[in-house]
Amino acid sequence: MAAGSVGELRRQALEAIDAAMDLEAVQAARTTWLGRKGPIVDALRSIKDRPPEERRDLGLELNRLRDELEAILSEREGSLEEENLRRRLVDERVDVTLPGRPRAIGGPHPLRMAEAELVRVLRKIGFSIVEGPEVESEYLNFEALNIPEDHPAREMQDTFYLRDLPGLLLRTHTSPVQVRAMRASAPNPLRVICPGRVYRRDDDVTHSPVFHQIEGLAVGEGIGMHHLKATLYEFARQLFGADVPLRLRPSYFPFTEPSTELDVGCPFCHGQGCRVCKGSGWIEVLGSGMVHPHVLREGGYDPERFTGFAFGLGIERTAMLRYGIDDVRLLYLGDLRFLTQFQGSEA
Ligand code: DAH
Repeated sequence: MAAGSVGELRRQALEAIDAAMDLEAVQAARTTWLGRKGPIVDALRSIKDRPPEERRDLGLELNRLRDELEAILSEREGSLEEENLRRRLVDERVDVTLPGRPRAIGGPHPLRMAEAELVRVLRKIGFSIVEGPEVESEYLNFEALNIPEDHPAREMQDTFYLRDLPGLLLRTHTSPVQVRAMRASAPNPLRVICPGRVYRRDDDVTHSPVFHQIEGLAVGEGIGMHHLKATLYEFARQLFGADVPLRLRPSYFPFTEPSTELDVGCPFCHGQGCRVCKGSGWIEVLGSGMVHPHVLREGGYDPERFTGFAFGLGIERTAMLRYGIDDVRLLYLGDLRFLTQFQGSEA
């Protein structure tokens, strides 16, 4: 390379760097001009082929050019980087004063709220919670509860049997958990409630094939009907208010003797008689009674020594009474216009 052509090299390099408009192009120009395969390194390498008297000046000139280009490129890179950053700060600015997008927050279903409230009150009275399976043995669902094969009560509690699993069914009530709980505790006194899902072959405007109950059971020595009545009245007053009219009425269940039902004064008409209470002014809340000796024996307790009381209530029915819902189907429809009315009313 002739000494004069360093000037030409410089002119071309400066022109190329000038034309590089963004950081990438400037970096590419650096590789092209100052890289290991670039013309300057090339020229420096070929100095040894020059006549000795030219070598020093050519070397000086090439080194000076390399330093100059290096300085120019660094300067350009620096200012382009700065400009990029400035642009990003503008483009990507977040307006922290913009209001956020509200998220819809779900809440407990009124059935769950009613269940939680029932459980809360019953726990306060002294019951603890036990659970039983929804797939139950036919024996515990019926026979153990004094409902033999040919008993007419079976007709009222027709349910879903499991085709390949003889002897099993979907429980028609939470009462079989009475026997399970007794078998687990005998011969110690016990006081338990069992909330859960139950099934029946019912499907009309007031009955759903799946619904929910809470069972209660107290067993011990010397338990009498006064305990049953005091407990249920306390429970109903906590739930519906201290002034609610209450009555305990004789009834019949195969697994209690004697059997009773608890009614509350109709909260919809205050005893005047309406569609919901079918004109009677009273609404039945639960079935109850003194545990039948047959059931105590099935649970492993000696009925000569132990007595007990039991009760069972429907959670749907209680939710309806508590929240003034007059159609059970509303609880299953998943209609937000209905469901959101209960948000925040209680936990
Ligand atoms: N198991 C009954 C039903 O589903 C309700 C019931 C009645 C439960 C009386 C009881 C009771 O524990 O004592 O209809």
